[in-house]
Amino acid sequence: MIQLIKKTDQCLSFAGFSISKLAEKYDTPLYVISELKIIDNYNRMYEALTKEYNKIRIYYSAKANTNLSVLKTLEREGAYLDAVSPGEVFLAKKAGFLSNRILFTGTSVRNDELRYLLESNVTINIDSLSQLNWLLKITVPNQLSFRINPELGAGHHESCITAGKEAKFGLWEDEVVKGYQKAKNTGVKNFGIHMHIGSGIMSVEPYLIATQRLLKIAKKVREKTKIKFQFINIGGGMGIPYKPGEAPFDTERFAQEICGLYKRKIKEYQLNTPVLCVEPGRYIVGEACALITRVNTIKQTPYKMFIGVDAGFNTLIRPIMYDAYHHILVSTANTSEERVYDVAGPICESGDLLAKNRKLPYVKEGDLLVVLNTGAYGYSMSSQYNSRPRAAEVLVKEHKHVLVRKRETFKDLIRGQRIAKWLK
Ligand code: LLP
Repeated sequence: MIQLIKKTDQCLSFAGFSISKLAEKYDTPLYVISELKIIDNYNRMYEALTKEYNKIRIYYSAKANTNLSVLKTLEREGAYLDAVSPGEVFLAKKAGFLSNRILFTGTSVRNDELRYLLESNVTINIDSLSQLNWLLKITVPNQLSFRINPELGAGHHESCITAGKEAKFGLWEDEVVKGYQKAKNTGVKNFGIHMHIGSGIMSVEPYLIATQRLLKIAKKVREKTKIKFQFINIGGGMGIPYKPGEAPFDTERFAQEICGLYKRKIKEYQLNTPVLCVEPGRYIVGEACALITRVNTIKQTPYKMFIGVDAGFNTLIRPIMYDAYHHILVSTANTSEERVYDVAGPICESGDLLAKNRKLPYVKEGDLLVVLNTGAYGYSMSSQYNSRPRAAEVLVKEHKHVLVRKRETFKDLIRGQRIAKWLK
C-alpha cells in the first residue's frame, strides 16, 4: 500500500514532495494527484478479481475525476471507462480511450446527445423504455445494455443511493423483458446488463444481495428472449476510509464472494460466461489526491475559533453537500498541542466549512493545511461560485511533478459572456 503523506523535519510531504514547496511553486488551493497511487488502486482491484474469474473489466467511473492525465493513466493501465455525459465521452476519447472501451450510462438523455453517442460508437446503457424508444428511432446499434434497479440501494448519503424505491435510475423488473425483447426484435445483436446501487459502500453484503437479484433478472431475460449476455456489470460504489482508523473496503473478500456467487449463478442459470464488469470511481482515485490550502485568517469569536482558508465549497463541496468528513493535517505544525477549530472557506455562506469542531494542532496565519482523500468528486464538483476561479491540479510521479490543469484566472470568469447590446 503506497503511503502518500509523510512527516519530514520541516513539514509534511506528499508522494515525497514537500507540501510547502508545492504550494510555493503552484500556489493554493492546489490539488496534488499521485499517478502511482491510482495505478496501485486500479491493479489491486483488477488482480483481486482476475484471481477469481478470468473475464474481468474495470470501468473507471470518470465522474469522480476527469482530469485528462488521470484518464490517460487509467487508459494506459488497460481500464475501460464509465461515462455519464457526452462531455465525459469526449474527454475519454481525448485521453485515448477507444470507443469499444467506453460504456455510457446516462439518465434523462437528450436526443441530440444520443446521436452524438451513436456517432461516437460507444455502448449505450439504457436507463428507461422511453430512452430506448428514442434511440431505436435514430438507429439500431449493434450492442446495447440496460441498467436495472435491483430494488436495493446503499451509500454514504441518501443522495448517493442510486437504486431502490426512491431512485430515478434504471428499469424495474417488470419492464426489463419488454425492453430487451424490443431491442432484439429491432435488430440489436449483443447485450449487456447493468446495475449501480450507490456510492461510498464499505461492506460487501449489499453487492451480494443486489448481484444475486441482477443475475436472477438476467436469467429471466435469457429464458424469455433467448438473449445471450456478453457482459454483466455490477456497478461501482466501493468506498474508501475517510476517517483515521476506519477499515478499508475489503477488496479480497469482495472479489472472492462476488466472483464465487457469479460463477455459481451463471452456471446454474445457463448464462454462459459473460465478462464481469465493475465500475469504481472513488476507489481508484479518492485516496490518490490531496488538497493543499493556505490559512488566511484566524478568528476567535465568543463561541468559536475559525480558521479562514483559501479553499471553500467552491473547491471542495463534499463536506457541505454530504456532511462528508475529510481528514485535515496541518503541514507546518510545530506543536502537538491541539485545539478545536471550524475550518472555513472564503465563500459568503455560513455553511462554507471544510470541517466543523475539528481538533487540530495550533494553527497560525500562513500555515498550510492538507485535506486528504480529495481525488474523487473534489475538482470534478468544484465551481466558480462567488466568482472565484477554479484551483490548479498537479500530477506527481516518482521524482517528477507537473501542472496538469492551470489555475483559472479572471478571464475564465467572463469566458463566453457578453453584455447585451442594448445595455451598452
Ligand atoms: N457507476 C455509476 C452509474 C454511477 O452513477 C457512479 C457514481 C459510479 C459508477 C461510481 O461510483 P463510485 O465508485 O465513485 O462511488 N458525489 C458523490 C458521489 C456520487 C456518485 C454518483 N455516481 C460523493 O462525493 O460522494
